[in-house]
Amino acid sequence: MLSGRRILVGVTGGVAAYKAAYLVRRLVERGADVRVMMTRSAQQFVGPQTFAAITGQGVASELFGAASVSPHTELARWAEAVIIAPATANTLAKAAHGLSSDLVSATILATTAPVLLAPAMHTEMWENAATRRNVAVLQGDGRTMVGPASGSLAGGDTGPGRMVEPEEILQALELLLKGPLSGVRMLVTAGGTREPIDPVRFIGNRSSGKMGFAIASAAVASGADVILVSSADLPPPSGARVVEVETAEEMGQSVVKLAQEVDVVVMAAAVADFRPAVIEETKLRRTDGIPEIRLEATPDILASLVALEKRPYLVGFAAETGSYDTAIQKAISKGVDLTVANDVAAEGSGFGSDTNQVALIDSQGTIERWPLLTKVEVARRLCDHLAGQLNERAAKG
Ligand code: PMT
Repeated sequence: MLSGRRILVGVTGGVAAYKAAYLVRRLVERGADVRVMMTRSAQQFVGPQTFAAITGQGVASELFGAASVSPHTELARWAEAVIIAPATANTLAKAAHGLSSDLVSATILATTAPVLLAPAMHTEMWENAATRRNVAVLQGDGRTMVGPASGSLAGGDTGPGRMVEPEEILQALELLLKGPLSGVRMLVTAGGTREPIDPVRFIGNRSSGKMGFAIASAAVASGADVILVSSADLPPPSGARVVEVETAEEMGQSVVKLAQEVDVVVMAAAVADFRPAVIEETKLRRTDGIPEIRLEATPDILASLVALEKRPYLVGFAAETGSYDTAIQKAISKGVDLTVANDVAAEGSGFGSDTNQVALIDSQGTIERWPLLTKVEVARRLCDHLAGQLNERAAKG
């Protein structure tokens, strides 16, 4: 799970700085993209060259005079997670008070990424009322502490204050990076199906696949295992397994089969309701006259899923124009757990756009309207909503 993740390690001035070198090496071995920043005091214990050699990257240590005009914000934005190891009493105090007098403290203040602090100091300093207050403030601010452990300390004394071992920091990092859908298996459909008329023509629709692909990407980012059943021509989202289909029949077969293996199905695809009853084997020609194309119904995929004996949590989409009344009726009668209704007639909403205006409707018909948002943001919020629903379900047993 650490492979490819952008991890920033801040090393501050304590003897345990030597253990940070091993921590950084383990992160690199696990495939993480690691950068290191150091305080001046940390460099009294370990040289930046050690970290540069392990990561293959330069080590940042100064707020001013570096190649970048704003190294702290650059690193803060780059990081998916920040580890401060060791975190001295001085650094904890600065972080608790929002001080930014050096690169490490300024980066902690500037980042929106989760911050994991591994304190290391003498027992008296750890137990001092000021440090206790600072730790409480940091925890209240959503910072995560790992350790300290109890054991022998630099001055020959023994007690709490020893930095925990790198493996324990790695475990804490993995927990911190787990998204709200961690462990959830999700199937998402995307795109418009194509129902062939003859070898060159088909009946299609205006779905680009953007909404479904955004949901698949957001679900991956939230920690889910994602299968994307797609009829869209978009680059595959990284981290998702993609099953390519063309027709409603193919989509239905894949989805119903795979539904047995997942916890959630999100049907964002625009599936054709009708298809030509006969597919011509050769191209229809103008010279043969105007053809009459008889249509037949396609399989209703959602209905097949609702009928499954052991069915996953089901999310249907509803393409509406203007009022959500029909969507509310369908949400109550169709037996799905959640309906995402979108107004495909509204400006910047529905097919093809980068934005969407949706309303969530539960199986009782209760509606929650969202403002016009990017599809990426709709997808992110939908994943958070699903995580909440699944947790509620699990709590009820
Ligand atoms: O792909 P984009 O360009 O980003 O556009 C996104 C979107 C507008 C396509 C998407 O947000 C959306 O609304 N998808 C569902 C469109 C649709 O087919 O709506 P519907 O009201 O016709 O169908 C209701 C639900 O039944 C849908 O979840 C659909 O996937 C499902 N269905 C439909 C037909 C069928 N034979 N089987 C089904 O399961």
